[in-house]
Amino acid sequence: MLSKSLHRLPYSLRMGLLIAALIGLLIGALAWIQSEREHLADLEEMDRRSYVIAHQMAHSVQTALQLPDKEAAAALGSALEGYQRLTGLALYRPDGRLISAGKGVTDFADSLRAIALQALEDAKDIIVILPVGDTRYHILASLIRAPQGQPEGILVVVHDLSFLEQRATSRLFQVGFWLALVILLLLILIVAGIWAVYDRPLNRLAEWMRQLRTGDAVDAPPIELPVARLASESDRLAASFRAARSAHQAQARAVVRAGNVWTRDRLRAHVVDCLQGGQLLVVSNREPYLHELRDGKPYLIKPAGGLVTALDPVLQACGGVWVAHGSGEADRQTADTHGRLAVPPDEPTYSLRRVWLSREEEQGYYYGFANEGLWPLCHLAHERPIFRADDWEHYVRANRRFADAALEEVGNGPAVVLVQDYQLALAPRFLKEARPELKIGIFWHIPWPNPEAFRICPWAPELLRGMLGADLIGFHLQQHCNNFLDTVDRMVEARLDWDHFTAELQGHTARVRPFPISVETWAERHAPNSPALEQQIDLLRERHKLDGQRIAVGVDRIDYTKGLAERFRAIGRFFERYPHYRERFTFVQLGAPSRTHIPRYRSYINELEALADQINWRFRSDGWQPIHFLIGHHDSNTVYAFLCMAEVGIVSSLHDGMNLVAKEYIAAKPQLDGVLILSEFAGAARELADALIINPYDTEQFAEAIRRALEMPPEERQERMARMWRQVEENNIYRWAANFLADLTSVPLPPALNPEAN
Ligand code: F6P
Repeated sequence: MLSKSLHRLPYSLRMGLLIAALIGLLIGALAWIQSEREHLADLEEMDRRSYVIAHQMAHSVQTALQLPDKEAAAALGSALEGYQRLTGLALYRPDGRLISAGKGVTDFADSLRAIALQALEDAKDIIVILPVGDTRYHILASLIRAPQGQPEGILVVVHDLSFLEQRATSRLFQVGFWLALVILLLLILIVAGIWAVYDRPLNRLAEWMRQLRTGDAVDAPPIELPVARLASESDRLAASFRAARSAHQAQARAVVRAGNVWTRDRLRAHVVDCLQGGQLLVVSNREPYLHELRDGKPYLIKPAGGLVTALDPVLQACGGVWVAHGSGEADRQTADTHGRLAVPPDEPTYSLRRVWLSREEEQGYYYGFANEGLWPLCHLAHERPIFRADDWEHYVRANRRFADAALEEVGNGPAVVLVQDYQLALAPRFLKEARPELKIGIFWHIPWPNPEAFRICPWAPELLRGMLGADLIGFHLQQHCNNFLDTVDRMVEARLDWDHFTAELQGHTARVRPFPISVETWAERHAPNSPALEQQIDLLRERHKLDGQRIAVGVDRIDYTKGLAERFRAIGRFFERYPHYRERFTFVQLGAPSRTHIPRYRSYINELEALADQINWRFRSDGWQPIHFLIGHHDSNTVYAFLCMAEVGIVSSLHDGMNLVAKEYIAAKPQLDGVLILSEFAGAARELADALIINPYDTEQFAEAIRRALEMPPEERQERMARMWRQVEENNIYRWAANFLADLTSVPLPPALNPEAN
């Protein structure tokens, strides 16, 4: 009850009361000890005074004692009367006879006699405190001795102690008064202090957060917070909160404006609005269509990876030019003299402009700086980044080459240029410096780490300045935006505006925003229809001896960030724990070899093959093995067929910006008949909460998730999948592109750069 009412008091008052009570108790105890000591000193003083009086009287008493009682009493006369605090004296013979007593003590002469006789018996002076009624008396019984030493009489000196007790009480009252005053002052001081440095700032912070939550306009957090770091963190928190909300509101508005699902056609119309007669350019390292040589003839490959999966549908919808590295063996012979060709080759809708790099340049820029340096740096996946000066020089030169190619494609007209990913961090600045009026965006497809991690790159400031040449910098997640601006804050001389998530460098402002990337529906991709799909599935089941098997699938580039080893181990553990699934369930891993000129990637493939072999060896039986590790470039129809036939899709990245395979799997399940197992370390986990979310390092949990997926009741599967399917369908790649382009083109150019304004 009391504690409840105490909790209702303001914090400062509670603390004040507590501290004041503690100090009060301490002072009170000290005061009590002091007053006790003074009381004892008073009593000692009283003893001393009694002895002095007895001593002074000793001579006349000795003389009187030589006389018979009556003469002795007469000789003493009024010498035994008291005055002030001395109540009186009494004189006894050794046989207890009273010779004479002062008036003040006659009433209790009998008690005094007993004390006198006690002194005689003890053969020494004694002091006794004697209560009589309400009064306490201090009694000294002092032996009067003859010159030979034997006692001749006992002189009793009686003092009234009331005055001492009154003094002690009044002292206690005084101390009590001052104590109360000190406690009150302390209370006021402590309460005021705590209120000023604690209650008030926190109340203001709470009020400011409330306003932030309810959307009332607030600019900055209260400045007088006691801890500067808290103030700065809350400032950023607010800014990121506001940015996320405004992004969300913008998206929500877009949804309300035009229905829920974005299609190719709708994007096309939207882009025409955004471009206002300008061109659309995508610039990336990876090309969407690559030609290899097979049997001496060009063979078309659609490279694996999120970037191509996401961006190709956008350019197919809108037209434009895609500038990318021509990395295929047969790329030159399939392009014109300027490196151009129309794509997709069977139904062209846009133009691919290939950039040629020498082997040395590719090695330094792509394999070296981008993939041995920036890739592990941004993924924090236990792989040490390697930074070499030579690689950096190639990186700068290659970025310049891509920018020049893009400028050539743009010509003199207006254009919107979408630079892609970590291979081209410098290109935005090169483009902006050459053509300030171009609208330039860069989208970073991988995570952005915290500033402490990023700063180990020796050329971190240059990379940041390069990116800040863009008008819009996009990441998958708000957290990556926060990390990026934090890194800029620490490493570059830019002016940051955390409220609007912008950074200004050399008079140019770049906005930083989250745009969670996505995929297009399989229907838009002209995926095989039912009969063709069934046929393909039958073929694959037959080829890989999967008839009658329940299937889980993983589709990845073979990259150490994808958690493939962890996945294989979980499959092994699953069969160990649930052996009755042997010969009934198979895991198929489609793995596209990637960056194989880098030793770590080559050794990773070997490790995975060895691990798959080991698990297969342990659990295999006639005609059945638990893992099918299919290494190769699988065409889109094969991937689609596997996604469709798999009851379970597995994504176990150790760190991933988004991971589009997770969304591809959902998009392949319009019948809602699958379960997704998804790593909590993939950006997609933020949107696909109905997946079975796992920590890929936790083998037990992972194995258990596989069991749970296989045994999940059909209704639960459907409910979960329905929610994820809607999420992916509504937030598809067309919406992503529409949002990015709308944001990029929404801010007008400064008047000096705007031809229409002049
Ligand atoms: O998802 C990150 C990413 O770099 C994409 O840009 C790219 O599509 C994918 O990985 C594949 O990488 P690479 O182009 O090196 O094969």
